[in-house]
Amino acid sequence: MEEFIAKLRDDHSDFSQGSLDDQVKKEDPLKLFQKWYKEAYEKNCGEPHAMVISTVDKQLQPSSRTVYMKDLVEEGLIFYTNYESKKVKDIRVNPRVSVLFYWDCLERQVRIQGTAIEAPAEMSDDYFASRPRASQIGAWASRQSEIIQSREELEQAYAAIEKRFEGSNIPRPPYWGGILIQPNYFEFWQGRPGRLHDRICFEKANPTELTWQVTRKNP
Ligand SMILES: Cc1cc2nc3c(=O)[nH]c(=O)nc-3n(C[C@H](O)[C@H](O)[C@H](O)COP(=O)(O)O)c2cc1C
Repeated sequence: MEEFIAKLRDDHSDFSQGSLDDQVKKEDPLKLFQKWYKEAYEKNCGEPHAMVISTVDKQLQPSSRTVYMKDLVEEGLIFYTNYESKKVKDIRVNPRVSVLFYWDCLERQVRIQGTAIEAPAEMSDDYFASRPRASQIGAWASRQSEIIQSREELEQAYAAIEKRFEGSNIPRPPYWGGILIQPNYFEFWQGRPGRLHDRICFEKANPTELTWQVTRKNP
């Protein structure tokens, strides 16, 4: 075994930065999530807005990838992407998704499950307009998730779009925009010594229900 693999295998460091007492059961999970998100930002946890989203396709094959959460609204979490990408094709077949945040500098993990739908067009327009021009061109040029023969093909597509919109504003492509995840499950995980971690879970049968069932789970 390579030395670093052995070192990591033997790393049994404890988690000791915090705890979750039963008081949090009274909180609104979206507000608690927002509070943890802010704390991750204030503590300079890497990229606190990076989240892993998992989707399931029609063969029931799950797949995961990282995206950036760009908006957090009363209805849920929003990220932006290509609507013809693999992830959105999956969502169209099965809108149930799972999201994961891991903020190592706080020894915290948040698991969220919910239903994904297209975000309102105005939100996507606003966000697209705020992006750097190069990213706007990139959104037009990349047929996300499709196979290409070479890097050159992508660069040529980029150059062609650059030329097409020379001297003018770049509109949002019709196949690009926000995805809103409406949560029906949150799990807040705080690492504790001796692997006796705290896990507090909020669950409801569907996103439109008002009350959450709150439980503590074994680590
Ligand atoms: C840190 C990081 C952030 C990313 N953010 C986004 C994003 O916000 N939107 C997006 O479509 N892809 C993002 N990506 C790329 C995705 O991980 C993925 O490669 C891409 O969306 C295609 O996924 P799909 O083929 O499963 O649809 C990001 C990747 C990384 C590593």
